[in-house]
Amino acid sequence: MSHSPPPPTAPSASGQARSEQGDRNMPFSFTPTPMVFPTVYFPATSSKPDAPAIRQMKFERITWRVTQQHIQEQWLMLRMLKLQEQEEELRLREAEQHIGSIRHSMEWYSISRVSDDEDEALSEDSTPSDAEADQCIFRIGHSIPSIAFGTWTLGKGQAPIDQVDQALSIGFNHIDTAQSYRNEEEAGLALRESGLARSDVFITTKYSGSGGLDIETSIQNSLKNLGVSYVDLYLIHSPRLATPDIPTAWAKMEKIKKDGLARSIGVSNFGVPELEALLASAKITPAANQILFHPYVYAQQLPILSFGAQHGIVTEAYSALTPITHQPGGPVDKPVNAIASRLGATADQVILAWVKAKGAVAVTQVSSTKKFRLEGYLSAGDLALTEDDVAAIDAAGAKGARQQTARKVLRRAAVITLVGAAALKVCGSLRYGF
Ligand SMILES: NC(=O)c1ccc[n+]([C@@H]2O[C@H](COP(=O)([O-])OP(=O)(O)OC[C@H]3O[C@@H](n4cnc5c(N)ncnc54)[C@H](OP(=O)(O)O)[C@@H]3O)[C@@H](O)[C@H]2O)c1
Repeated sequence: MSHSPPPPTAPSASGQARSEQGDRNMPFSFTPTPMVFPTVYFPATSSKPDAPAIRQMKFERITWRVTQQHIQEQWLMLRMLKLQEQEEELRLREAEQHIGSIRHSMEWYSISRVSDDEDEALSEDSTPSDAEADQCIFRIGHSIPSIAFGTWTLGKGQAPIDQVDQALSIGFNHIDTAQSYRNEEEAGLALRESGLARSDVFITTKYSGSGGLDIETSIQNSLKNLGVSYVDLYLIHSPRLATPDIPTAWAKMEKIKKDGLARSIGVSNFGVPELEALLASAKITPAANQILFHPYVYAQQLPILSFGAQHGIVTEAYSALTPITHQPGGPVDKPVNAIASRLGATADQVILAWVKAKGAVAVTQVSSTKKFRLEGYLSAGDLALTEDDVAAIDAAGAKGARQQTARKVLRRAAVITLVGAAALKVCGSLRYGF
């Protein structure tokens, strides 16, 4: 299996490190960075896995640590962790050439960037054991891979197992599921079948209030279904599930984290008022808030994004591809298609790169066996959108939102007119008997 080389690899600065504050009364536990899509793929040149497990090297005054992991029998992943950065822009293209000497033995590899915080921590202890280095991204604090494969509409049975398995084999290391998706068991099975270590995959699941069960029982059931002893992120699926009230429900979530059943806890579909209500009594700040996020709702969701950034809450974006899947033909198509053709990319890649430029984690999926699409999603993180690109998509999204509002108002006016006309007709027929 081979992968096409990616388009220009320099990551856009806007998608980079964000500040984080972590748990209020606890050591920092969730690093929003690396907010970098985890992979840069190159074609296979050999399938012989003979490179050493770990290498260190200097390039452009940056020390890189290279971690190699067996993904499946013939697959390897190199994770390049930046230890010291003295230049603003990472020249990944040049780094690629520089590591050519080890590339010959790899089928593919990925390059991940880490935050400056992590850099500092790494430089304090830059000689981790092999086992530690394998989990380096997770070793310091707790980080979240910047793109997730979701299982929402995948159903039950063999299909979701195959699709999650495919996503893992392609390089996704973040699975997003939920109690209400009814396929946690399948996701867990795919993880075990993949041969990956538990620590190689970031698992998110959600309390959806299924079966009227409480949070404490639900997490236990989810862990059993997934076949794991902890999840990386446990979310309250919606504020309406935070019963009897947000502070009480959040206290239960905090207990779940303290008990080690979830490494981080968070929420989903929370607006600013609900986040405020939560923070008013929280001991642990939510690590993430997973929300509807695409160009047509960007302006509407911006306060939530800003609030999250201010409080160190990572925003996760679901249904980001709505302009393609549910609202094609809108104003966003034009800039997205133009950027896509300029960068030699696809429209879905451009939208995912836009999500990344906003500093959010993308949660996406394919409901079929469209492997090419998944590969495209992963390499989307390497697209270098300019500030103008991002601004053009923002503006088109806002225009589309205004058009939708205008259409809604017109529809409402038309309904009122029709109802009024019908009422007049009824009155007329009652009065004049026709
Ligand atoms: N927290 C929440 O309340 C919540 C709500 C919704 C979703 N989510 C999470 O987010 C995940 C993704 O949700 P989503 O499906 O709404 O995400 P999405 O990323 O907006 O859409 C994914 C869909 O886009 C389609 N697609 C991609 N590129 C396309 C193209 N070029 N042309 C046509 N179709 C294209 C794919 O179709 P194919 O399948 O045909 O490839 C896929 O089914 C879910 O699985 C779930 O984990 C969470």
